[in-house]
Amino acid sequence: MAKVSMTVNGKSVSGEVEGRTLLSTFLREGLGMTGTHVGCDTSQCGACVVHIDGKAVKSCTTFAQDVAGAEVRTIEGMANADGSLSTIQQAFQDHHGLQCGFCTPGMVMSAAALLADNPKPTEAEVRHHLEGNICRCTGYHNIVKAVLAASGQDVGQIAAE
Ligand code: FES
Ligand code: FES
Repeated sequence: MAKVSMTVNGKSVSGEVEGRTLLSTFLREGLGMTGTHVGCDTSQCGACVVHIDGKAVKSCTTFAQDVAGAEVRTIEGMANADGSLSTIQQAFQDHHGLQCGFCTPGMVMSAAALLADNPKPTEAEVRHHLEGNICRCTGYHNIVKAVLAASGQDVGQIAAE
């Protein structure tokens, strides 16, 4: 076991981890932050996406020790300071971008990373960017709509389901 320290949602945290401890495990079991979901543990579903130093990363295939000293942001850190939903979260709600909600934390974190890099993505860019995030419920249409709406674009023109 070794001590690892990082910043999570602006707070310094540390804990004891094994070399094999995944970041998703550290967040969920070490810090009790269960907003980051684990759907596959094999880097396929995207439910576990968090930001590491501003980049969207699958936390199920990242060792906690490799994140030492980094700035991590999880879904728990996405709301506004007053607790209200962030623009991207509100857009998912407004445009029915979720049903069971299992994929939603990863979707929101991936979408937020896209909008940080590309504030006005096209529909095709949104679909391409979210390729690593699987949703079993929505058929993706309303997720794409939500991301485009969060970027301030008119969502009336996007392809029909
Ligand atoms: S749990 Fe990480 S990609 Fe599925
Ligand atoms: S809302 Fe159920 S998996 Fe996406």
